[in-house]
Amino acid sequence: MDSRLQLRVQRYGWDRAAPHYELAWNQALAPATAAVLASAALQPGEHVLDVACGSGVLTRAAWQAVARRGGEVVGTDLSEQMLAQASEQSPQCRFVRADGQQLEDSLANEEFDVVLCGLGLMYMPDPELALASMVRRLRPGGRLVASVWGERRACAWADLFPIVDAQVYSEVCPMFFRLGGGDALARALREAELVGVTTERIATTADYADAQTACDAAFIAGPVALAYSRFDDATRLAVQAEYLASIEPWRLESCYSLPGEFVIGCGKLS
Ligand SMILES: C[S@@+](CC[C@H](N)C(=O)[O-])C[C@H]1O[C@@H](n2cnc3c(N)ncnc32)[C@H](O)[C@@H]1O
Repeated sequence: MDSRLQLRVQRYGWDRAAPHYELAWNQALAPATAAVLASAALQPGEHVLDVACGSGVLTRAAWQAVARRGGEVVGTDLSEQMLAQASEQSPQCRFVRADGQQLEDSLANEEFDVVLCGLGLMYMPDPELALASMVRRLRPGGRLVASVWGERRACAWADLFPIVDAQVYSEVCPMFFRLGGGDALARALREAELVGVTTERIATTADYADAQTACDAAFIAGPVALAYSRFDDATRLAVQAEYLASIEPWRLESCYSLPGEFVIGCGKLS
């Protein structure tokens, strides 16, 4: 997919997903958020940049950790609606709309002790370009911590993408699982000239009370929201039925408990 088109699909898709995102995903994403914070080991007084901050779950927690002794947190995201939610909930933080691949456009003269990117790299057309852009915003000795979804086969909801792609005849998130496989994230962090790179793989489940809640999380609260918003009613019913068939192995009576996996990577600028 053309990278400008991918950026538009992401920007306006996440604008649509913003009102639903935290309710649908916070429970499943909580282990990744906690692991990013643990790896970052934020200290009071530090200056933190949270890239692809979304509604600000990580931004808020980072601010709690650094606020004492004059710490600051800046959140950036592509989606205005995500940023509106984040700034409403965290007026103490500064929010800037920016493509994670082009941070110099809006943060040219700023350097940070820590750059965080929680589950944002999978949506960017060129994650390596994004990592290089993030590293340029680090002070010497600064840390970068990024999380991505893990192996495709470990994420029970993964058929969502081919199901939606078949209706739009393109790929909504072409790179989605690229950094989650094998040692891909560690390699990307080293190629971004970070040292002391470590990664860990952690498990999660996305738990939904019923089929409708599982479908809402997949179709209206995440990266396919724009494509789905353009489907007619018949197509919506068809993709929902296909998706429910794909997650049927993880149905427990009327509930669903979908396993998933994250990779958390951390490195330092020497
Ligand atoms: C799954 S959400 C993660 C939000 C937040 N970091 C969290 O952990 O809850 C993915 C976010 O990436 C943002 N995003 C997608 N492409 C982006 C890009 N090129 N630059 C910056 N943000 C981007 C989306 O707007 C969305 O808010």
